[in-house]
Amino acid sequence: MDNNHENIKRRTDEDGVIFMSIKNEQTEALQESKDEDINILAIESSCDETAAAVVRNGREVLSNIISSQIALHTVYGGVVPEIASRKHVEKINVCVRAALSEAGMTLDDIDAIAVTYGPGLVGALLVGVSEAKALSFATGKPLVGVHHIEGHICANYIEYKELEPPFMCLVASGGHSHLVYVKDYGEYDIIGQTRDDAAGEAFDKVARAIGLGYPGGPKVDKAAREGNPDAIAFPRAKTSEKSYDFSFSGLKSAVLNYLNQAEMKGEEINKNDVAASFQKAVVDVLTEHTMEAAEEYKCKKVAIAGGVASNTALRERLEAECEKRGMTFYRPAPVLCTDNAAMIGAAGYYEYLKGNRAGMDLNAVPNLPLGDRERRYHGRSSN
Ligand code: KG4
Ligand code: ZN
Repeated sequence: MDNNHENIKRRTDEDGVIFMSIKNEQTEALQESKDEDINILAIESSCDETAAAVVRNGREVLSNIISSQIALHTVYGGVVPEIASRKHVEKINVCVRAALSEAGMTLDDIDAIAVTYGPGLVGALLVGVSEAKALSFATGKPLVGVHHIEGHICANYIEYKELEPPFMCLVASGGHSHLVYVKDYGEYDIIGQTRDDAAGEAFDKVARAIGLGYPGGPKVDKAAREGNPDAIAFPRAKTSEKSYDFSFSGLKSAVLNYLNQAEMKGEEINKNDVAASFQKAVVDVLTEHTMEAAEEYKCKKVAIAGGVASNTALRERLEAECEKRGMTFYRPAPVLCTDNAAMIGAAGYYEYLKGNRAGMDLNAVPNLPLGDRERRYHGRSSN
């Protein structure tokens, strides 16, 4: 059973932006802070969600606020960076204030301010970075820069209080598909990554092609439940026997070809079957690579992260494969898989403990590589 984070307070602002305050058992059972507690105010604005959260000791979410612009971008079929940046500017203070007040705190109770500084849309990132720097400057509280993908991985620490590295983590989002060996807190070895499209990007493009609209992932997920995953044999790309890398552009082209051919022949397509067959091809590759990597690295723990990690079929398949091998499977609730600031607070906490502090020269880095502190790339073979 998936963990339950149903308690979401939601309102739609006049401009169509959806404001959410996400509560769970932890936020409900708020306790007084102890002196030794580290309370982090976290800010995330790398794409189309403006988010702020207060996280205690890296694992307890005291507040989790998300202002989602998805409805504004839907009419354009994808995120429009300029609109995203402007909305971030409008919403960020509202989110930060709400995060503090829901946590029952003021800035005085905060020990550090953590912010996503990359990767992402540069204009969008800059809003969060500027806000965090301003707050840090005004209060004298330390500033911690967080890598967005490291944040996604750390969502697992929030969901699973007992989880400790090392573990294997599949990170699949709109911009990234990585297999990451999490050696220790803040230490990441990338053992595989996409050579072209990210998994989420493939979901979004296929959804658009079959007329499901934006955002594609959840819509394909839903349509696939009504379809036959074995109806169409789409290819599973192997980059090479020796690699854990992914490639999804061939699969995407195969789906587009299938649709074009059907159109030329005047045949009606079954959207649900296309969605289910495409999704199965993605899930097969993601699952196979993850399990092989976990076995090679002798991991007894396998985690998932990123927007695509909320995919129902992927969660079910990985759960079953882990069970077969006696591995424990960690999957954060869907609301912690998609973009949020609580995960940035978790990642920021471990950076804070390591003494990593950002200065007032912290800038947005749209292409920030994962594991930037230790730029390493370990393939399956040592090539
Ligand atoms: O992590 P995320 O919220 O933002 C990025 O950092 O990119 O991921 C967004 C991506 C989108 O491509 C979206 O279509 C995909 O995650 N996604 C899904 C599902 N929910 C979101 N993909 C497949 N199935 C889902 N249920
Ligand atoms: Zn993300």
